[in-house]
Amino acid sequence: MTTMLGTKVHVRAIRPDDASRLVTFHLALTPKSVYRRFFSIHPKLSEAEVERFTCVDYVDRLALIAEVGDRMVAVARYDRLAGTSEAEVAFVVTDELQHHGIATLLLELLAHAAWRSGITAFVASTLAENRAMLGVFTGSRFDVNTHLECGVVEVRFMIDPKSCAKSERPDVPAINR
Ligand SMILES: CC(C)(COP(=O)(O)OP(=O)(O)OC[C@H]1O[C@@H](n2cnc3c(N)ncnc32)[C@H](O)[C@@H]1OP(=O)(O)O)[C@@H](O)C(=O)NCCC(=O)NCCS
Repeated sequence: MTTMLGTKVHVRAIRPDDASRLVTFHLALTPKSVYRRFFSIHPKLSEAEVERFTCVDYVDRLALIAEVGDRMVAVARYDRLAGTSEAEVAFVVTDELQHHGIATLLLELLAHAAWRSGITAFVASTLAENRAMLGVFTGSRFDVNTHLECGVVEVRFMIDPKSCAKSERPDVPAINR
């Protein structure tokens, strides 16, 4: 995809050899973005987190990354809730490329991949103040349910193509591993 600023962004599934790119990406995030992603002050990923985030099975756990050249600029992931057909999703986009539609694109691609792996619904916990994340969910083609509890919005929506708010499925570009 090309952002409004003309930056070319390439999306692919994460790989174990993305570990150092992920560390660098996370270190460059602002404290505000880290807090919104992790709900805590979390300036550095632990080794265990880096391994968990980069080593996925591409079925029950998947992360898609967006790159500009060789630089990681966004990560979107789903983790299946054990024994269910639901998965929890999380997104983070590097600060200077936020509000250019990258998370919107990644949500579409993630849902497409998850559906092919037998996942039927996405859930997410989002801080109520996080208008950008909530805007990505509610502005999508999915029929999104929200529930506010103690400053956190619990989001849930079916990704079944038949239960989409908008009937047409947009074209989904292929994702490389
Ligand atoms: C939340 C977050 C992932 C959204 O990513 P993003 O790439 O900026 O999201 P998008 O650009 O797709 O959409 C965000 C907003 O930009 C708007 N937008 C979409 N395409 C756009 C474009 N081409 N140009 C300008 N704005 C655009 C969307 O309508 C949305 O607007 P809204 O907030 O008024 O509804 C990003 O802000 C982020 O990483 N935040 C920190 C981490 C975080 O909050 N994670 C969520 C935890 S689950």
